Amino acid sequence: WPENTDVHDGVLHVNEIPVTELAAGFGTPAYLLDVPGLRSRAARYRRAFEEAFAPAQVSVYYAGKAFLSRAVARWVRDEGLRIDTASAGELATALAAGIDGAEIGLHGNNKSVEEIDLALENGIGRLVIDSLPEIDLVAARAAARGQRAPVMVRVTTGVHAGGHDFIATAHEDQKFGLSLASGAALQALEQIVANEHLELLGLHSHIGSQILDPDGFAAAAAALLGLRATLAERTGHLAAELDLGGGYGIAYTPQEQAVDIEALAASLAQACRRECERLGTPQPDYSFEPGRAIVGPSMVTLYRVGTVKPVELEDGGSRLYVSVDGGMSDNIRPALYGADYHAELAGRTSSADPVPARVVGKHCESGDIVIRDVSLPGDIAAGDLLAVPATGAYGRSMASQYNLVPRPPVVALGDGAPREIVRRETVDDLLALDLG
Ligand code: LLP
Repeated sequence: WPENTDVHDGVLHVNEIPVTELAAGFGTPAYLLDVPGLRSRAARYRRAFEEAFAPAQVSVYYAGKAFLSRAVARWVRDEGLRIDTASAGELATALAAGIDGAEIGLHGNNKSVEEIDLALENGIGRLVIDSLPEIDLVAARAAARGQRAPVMVRVTTGVHAGGHDFIATAHEDQKFGLSLASGAALQALEQIVANEHLELLGLHSHIGSQILDPDGFAAAAAALLGLRATLAERTGHLAAELDLGGGYGIAYTPQEQAVDIEALAASLAQACRRECERLGTPQPDYSFEPGRAIVGPSMVTLYRVGTVKPVELEDGGSRLYVSVDGGMSDNIRPALYGADYHAELAGRTSSADPVPARVVGKHCESGDIVIRDVSLPGDIAAGDLLAVPATGAYGRSMASQYNLVPRPPVVALGDGAPREIVRRETVDDLLALDLG
């Protein structure tokens, strides 16, 4: 649950506001955002890396793909973070929030000319190069503007980590980055160093997402430090910065445990120091790109229960199918990755015995499952409120309008009066896109 949640008389309160009141005021489904929780986690991540890596300079970029809105960009900026973006839409949102272009990074394995131009026009802090052809493209766009583009190179280190194949990103056979093993990464670095329109800031690695085991980060860092030393030997250019990406895992269910970020940062910093000593190179500066770990735990999705249906199972048992008023359109993660979540009755107490239940959505697919297996009170019924924690990352940001179901709002709590920071979509919004 977000930091600032409590239960009084069976009613879940987020930042002291009962969800019964929020459901009445904002409707369901809705993503409820604990703003102080978000801000304190952003600050905690920044401090953890700064303290562990001192005296090296550290920048923490919030990975906006997890969830970005103008208010969120400002809150994390106010906690000393920068913003990592991966498209023109994310970049434009960060800029519209008033974030200085120099404090923004741009990623992407297939950046368009328009995206590169938008970045350069706004004095972007870094473009992360993801392929050899992109080097010439960025150099040409920078030359056309009479600029020198600040770039990093995303290196595929061969480290395989992360929750699901779809989100593991540093093994060889996938689309991101330039391979260390094949020599493409070194070739890219040499080309950049030799190009007068490009300024090489450093080397980048992102090994995957929802990673709970810290060893992969140290292995990737060692690979980057080695490559940095090789580049220095060959060209005399010692890259100033290492970006070790994001991917820090969080708890989705009561059985799981989030990464201990202070311990992880300390052991990673130690491994980097040791590797620099072994290589005989000075420590670089460091940056990080956590997304999920900052925003994930700070949202709860509030649903209203509709149909409740007992189903007999082949093994003689039974399961209660509890339908809610959203589903795979507001949280695709269970269908896409087999992700687990937890849910609790949120609007009243119940003394009924818990029964095995499956929470499902309202969409026209049997795979439209919110939670595959969860215990819920046997008297759960239409009209009840159900809360699902840890939905802040890749929930609203990956939401769709499947079945032409409008997307839910994000309601900010704990920052003045409750308010929508992303409003509820309406059927009229959807019809406005339909030109007849
Ligand atoms: N940096 C880069 C270059 C990335 O590609 C990503 C995530 C991040 C940072 C942030 O990773 P995080 O700290 O949030 O794990 N939709 C998937 C996750 C995709 C992650 C893509 N890249 C999911 O819902 O699990």
